[in-house]
Amino acid sequence: MVDPAVNAANPSGGEDPSRRDFIHIAAISAAAVGGAAVAWPFIAQMNPSADTMALASVEYDLTKIEPGMQVTINWRGKPLFIRYRTQAQIDAAVKDDGASLPDPQTDAERHKEGKAQWLVLVGSCTHLGCVPTVGGGDYQGWFCPCHGSHYDTSGRIRKGPAPTNLVVPEYAFLSDTKVKIG
Ligand code: FES
Repeated sequence: MVDPAVNAANPSGGEDPSRRDFIHIAAISAAAVGGAAVAWPFIAQMNPSADTMALASVEYDLTKIEPGMQVTINWRGKPLFIRYRTQAQIDAAVKDDGASLPDPQTDAERHKEGKAQWLVLVGSCTHLGCVPTVGGGDYQGWFCPCHGSHYDTSGRIRKGPAPTNLVVPEYAFLSDTKVKIG
């Protein structure tokens, strides 16, 4: 039944266009709210779970590592190298700061807070992601046996197909003996 008030304002007898638009917009809005309600559980499922969030950052006690040694820990599903460099390894890296490097960086740009003895690196070869072995290769840093990439004691690519240096992740020292990665 036609509302007399509406009919008075619309003597042609047809439905008021503005009223029709309002109903149309209201229907779209209801559909959008319904869509959001359906979508939310899926979006919520895509958020990382609490245990995944816990793995997003990891703390490590550096007293467990001897000079010249490296530990490999799991971080966000990837290997992470923490290497305690000797003075000779640091000196070798600094000496090559001016060498021709495929991905130029000084050694100082690859460690933090003046703690040159600690290198923290993502342990994935930047070529195709193999895990390089420590201490090998022509530069005594890391060697990736998959296709022969040589990294120096700063984790810089020096020879082979890897295009860039081993990645330095976000990290900070919580104390002289504790580092937090991520
Ligand atoms: S994955 Fe390391 S050289 Fe190819």
